[in-house]
Amino acid sequence: MIKVAPSILSADFARLGSEVEEIARGGADYVHFDVMDGLFVPNISIGIPVLKSLRRATDMFIDAHLMIVEPIRYVEAFCKSGADLVNVHVEADTPERVSASLDMIRAQGKKCGVTIKPATPAEAVLPYLDAVDLVLVMTVEPGFGGQSFMHDMLPKIEKIRGWIDVRSLPCELEVDGGVDAETAALVKKAGADVLVAGSAVFRRADRSAAIKAIRNA
Ligand code: DX5
Ligand code: ZN
Repeated sequence: MIKVAPSILSADFARLGSEVEEIARGGADYVHFDVMDGLFVPNISIGIPVLKSLRRATDMFIDAHLMIVEPIRYVEAFCKSGADLVNVHVEADTPERVSASLDMIRAQGKKCGVTIKPATPAEAVLPYLDAVDLVLVMTVEPGFGGQSFMHDMLPKIEKIRGWIDVRSLPCELEVDGGVDAETAALVKKAGADVLVAGSAVFRRADRSAAIKAIRNA
């Protein structure tokens, strides 16, 4: 069953509690929580205080996508503040420190994931594939919601799907960026398990219908 992870980057932060309640009622599987530091990406979003509030407001599974340099500095804090899964970018630090970050997340009893930007080849996830619960493939340049889906990322998704299947790994394959009811069909066909969608969910009045349309694409 395909999972849908609405990204609250496109939500109304002044009414975050009810926004998240709506997606929970609408059948969303994860809440996707985008963290940006203005260095790794050219934008600043939300961080630990918002995560703590969100944790108190919902029991949904929170998938934290850290778009920050040297995530090793903060992974423990994100775990302790309520994330259920913490995703770090492979481009954000050295391979040793990315691995150490994953160990720190696991040591907190949380799930861990690695993420790759569009210009990063699929092979960059190989060293981590046995150690992660999730691989996230970006299908836009990270930093902003509402961008167009990059169709040339589909072969990358297929390739990673193939590796996960050949090794029978329990790892989920998540796709983030420009996913809507149309592109969701392509992403599912390429082998994704978890579809992140920001504007395609929060810019529609009927969140439940939006989530259904993505899941059933
Ligand atoms: C972009 C974020 C995404 C973003 C997706 O850097 O990682 O999660 O919110 O937004 P849409 O679905 O609008 O492309
Ligand atoms: Zn994201």
